Amino acid sequence: MGRDWVMTSSGEFQAAAIVSWAEAAARTSPPLRVTGVVKSFGGGFDPTRALPWRRNAKREVPRRVVDDVSFEIRRGEIFGVIGANGSGKSTLIRMISTLLLPDAGEVHVFGLDAVRDSMRVRSLINRVSADPSFFRTMTALENLLFFGRVYGLTPGEVKEKAPEILRRLGFEWERALEPMSHLSRGQQQKVAVARSFLTSPSLMLLDEPTTGLDPRSKRDVQGFVREVQRDHDASILLTTHDMEEAELLCDRIAFISGGRIVAEGTPLELRQKVAGGRPVEQIDMEDVFMELTGRSVEEDEIVEPVTVGA
Ligand SMILES: Nc1ncnc2c1ncn2[C@@H]1O[C@H](COP(=O)(O)OP(=O)(O)OP(=O)(O)O)[C@@H](O)[C@H]1O
Ligand SMILES: [Mg+2]
Repeated sequence: MGRDWVMTSSGEFQAAAIVSWAEAAARTSPPLRVTGVVKSFGGGFDPTRALPWRRNAKREVPRRVVDDVSFEIRRGEIFGVIGANGSGKSTLIRMISTLLLPDAGEVHVFGLDAVRDSMRVRSLINRVSADPSFFRTMTALENLLFFGRVYGLTPGEVKEKAPEILRRLGFEWERALEPMSHLSRGQQQKVAVARSFLTSPSLMLLDEPTTGLDPRSKRDVQGFVREVQRDHDASILLTTHDMEEAELLCDRIAFISGGRIVAEGTPLELRQKVAGGRPVEQIDMEDVFMELTGRSVEEDEIVEPVTVGA
């Protein structure tokens, strides 16, 4: 991981001290600790006040989309946040990856505060979003070279690592020489996953990495994530609404519904919570989600924003 941004020409001793302090903290603190995090959207702009001619306009009420969320990820584990569309998963990941400020609560990455120490936190994490952005007219390789550079890799290192990662993801290397805009969504998603694993991030944030992929590509990406966790001892936060994926990959799972974590545990512990005397192997995760949230993942989807009259 490139950390040379802390090095200054005038303060090498101080910079080295900061690095070793950060590394010492990283050795003893959990990869991720989220404490009482809250985020609301809407309600900032009141048209009835700002625009007198719209005094009968409807006023938006702030809506909590992440509501007092707390959890901790242990070293080397894959922790799944499972919830329906609109349940707050991506908003949570954006706050952890320092792209969005929480209204309340704290996020610590290897002991570093994601708000106060956002630069250092950024150097410890990598995020794969469900909708990755690229330079569309550049080839996949050129994109990887560019983003590798951002993370402190030399072109030589990227060219050495990228073919192997792409091969493990089931992506034909020849296609890496085509513009991104010629690739299917699934192929672009694989390039996004490869981009994040070019470096050896200490904490991976995978926001629905397999959504929209065909079954074969899905298996390729899932297999790769598992391999990376096993071989590199990476700590991974994964969001999904696919229960099978959650069971297959996650050591522990939190169910999120309406921005709140409603249950947390290993897949076995969650099954045991609802078993009520039935053999746990007869209970599937979909049923567990239903019993713990009162709804299926499909029914739990948030569609309508809440508004009231002025
Ligand atoms: N910038 C924003 N401004 C206003 N509302 C937002 C914003 N970002 C997200 N929301 C709302 O917050 C809620 C949670 O969105 P979020 O993207 O976190 O859900 P999600 O669990 O990732 O859903 P999906 O499975 O569809 O990706 C949604 O109702 C969404 O409309
Ligand atoms: Mg999302």
